[in-house]
Amino acid sequence: MIEESYRVGILTLSDKGSRGEREDESGVLLAEMVSKLGNVARYQVIADDQDKIIMMLKSWVDDLHLDLILTTGGTGLSPRDVTPQATQAVLDYQVTGMAEAMRSASLNITPRAMLSRAVVGVRQQTLIINLPGSPRAARENFEVLLPVLPHALAKLNGDPADCAVPDRQ
Ligand code: MTE
Repeated sequence: MIEESYRVGILTLSDKGSRGEREDESGVLLAEMVSKLGNVARYQVIADDQDKIIMMLKSWVDDLHLDLILTTGGTGLSPRDVTPQATQAVLDYQVTGMAEAMRSASLNITPRAMLSRAVVGVRQQTLIINLPGSPRAARENFEVLLPVLPHALAKLNGDPADCAVPDRQ
């Protein structure tokens, strides 16, 4: 079945945000960016806690069957950055090309792009995408993926159409 409006979850990982000490600009920005693709069915700001992230991701996939989950934050090298580990723990498989594409495009903007360990992958029929935490980095990374998301989500939902695209977009 091909969905017309996908159900999206936005999960912001931030210790300060979870305590109300920092506004979640990145989550709000991502909600705007994804609005043409679907509706934000769940939005949550939680601490950089691996077990909590795993629980939340599992619940959004296994109980709510969201089509797409965007996480923002916690992909770097600081001791509290655990989003990629938590995401890997719940994935059935990774979509390495999408993570590579984000890093590759971002390296044209800043060499620090290589510090993001963001992963992208699938659990059941849900696509989970890690994005960095700053609003600018989240936007710069997510806009790389936006053009292919309709096709990726349609395929995940069982679209049997051929992948060949005449104009090679
Ligand atoms: N990617 C883009 N496009 N633009 C950026 O400014 N910042 C980098 C990287 N990716 C950045 C980026 C930096 S400085 C870090 S530390 C990592 O993302 C991880 O960010 P996070 O810890 O907020 O997830």
